[in-house]
Amino acid sequence: MRDLSAATQFGRLDTARLPSPCHVLDLARLERNLKLLKRVGDESGVEILLALKAFSCFAVADLVSRYLSGTAASGLYEARLGKTRFGGQMHAYAPGLKAADIGEMLGYADHLILNSLGQWRRFRSRLEDTADVRFGLRVNPGHNEVENPLYDPCAPWSRLGVPVGDLTAADLDGLSGIHIHALCDHPYGAFDRMLAAVEDNCGHLFGAIDWINLGGGLLITEDGFPVDELIRRLRDFRERTGLTVYLEPGTAVGLHAGALVSEVLDRSSNVGELAIMDASATCHMPDVIEAPFTPDVLGAQTLSRNAKATPDEPNIVRLGGPTCLAGDIIGTYRFDKPPRVGDRLVFLDLGYYTMVKATTFNGTPLPALALWDSRTDALEVVREFSYADFEGRLS
Ligand SMILES: Cc1ncc(COP(=O)(O)O)c(C=O)c1O
Repeated sequence: MRDLSAATQFGRLDTARLPSPCHVLDLARLERNLKLLKRVGDESGVEILLALKAFSCFAVADLVSRYLSGTAASGLYEARLGKTRFGGQMHAYAPGLKAADIGEMLGYADHLILNSLGQWRRFRSRLEDTADVRFGLRVNPGHNEVENPLYDPCAPWSRLGVPVGDLTAADLDGLSGIHIHALCDHPYGAFDRMLAAVEDNCGHLFGAIDWINLGGGLLITEDGFPVDELIRRLRDFRERTGLTVYLEPGTAVGLHAGALVSEVLDRSSNVGELAIMDASATCHMPDVIEAPFTPDVLGAQTLSRNAKATPDEPNIVRLGGPTCLAGDIIGTYRFDKPPRVGDRLVFLDLGYYTMVKATTFNGTPLPALALWDSRTDALEVVREFSYADFEGRLS
């Protein structure tokens, strides 16, 4: 079972004050994460951007922009959101850039990263008309750290970036930087190995560029992360190469700062005990099914996703969503007291890759969004969704 100590501030939240389901962001933990990231930036001389794909909640844009240099986008709409809602630097990347979007994209981005030399060569003349945008190329450094192929940008036959073995410095003519992203939820050791591989495999390109973006995927804000070691490594790399260095964490910004509060709609049993929640794995936490992983529930013990139904264990309950997808299972948990209809449960660490991925499949309402400050207990519901949000996308 994961150590929940960092997320248990949610035990002090009175969930009856919220609509359900509801995403709650703890401003205290968010600010703690942001302060730590700023310290890494300040002490290493590296610029840190928020990866909007993980966390785009612009209700906290002022807080984010107080600590970070800007945002990183993966597509046109994120680029617009970054520019118009968050401010600061806007680094845009698109695995497939559409010719029709280029003009608008250049209005938002100050750095634009192309995924292939083919795109760069096709669009170069249009792009170079734009004086104050810097262009870069995504490079696959040929180094694997990620075990799950779903999240491995450097897996064989990956479409993300140009394999470094195919690149010479001359290919980068007109480009000023390269972008690498090769990690996912990793501790420091993987970053250290990745950076060593980047130096070995991509070093022949450094003379042709003046910036490098080392991507995200690093759990910098996790308790026990060796922050000072990271700072030393980044500072040393920056000083030796003379490159401007960017990092673009997403998870590390929202880590342990978000929870999803959900109400028990029904209880039943089918060999084992069941509860239907008003939050759905497939709609509101799709990574639970895709990755897969099981989010922890405050006050309960998380059991294996493959746990078998246990007829004589009333405290072991499988929680699922309100959709008709058979696999809309959030997880199986051991409770001290089994939850009753109307109870509110708190699913932990669901601040990132959740709101940004939510859908209304089956006509399931989207969770509301609330900001809570665990230092003061101040609570603000900043957004509630309605039928119009469902209908508006359908015709
Ligand atoms: C290009 C790129 N940058 C940054 C990130 C953010 O990674 P994380 O949220 O794991 O820090 C991702 C995640 O997929 C990514 O693909």
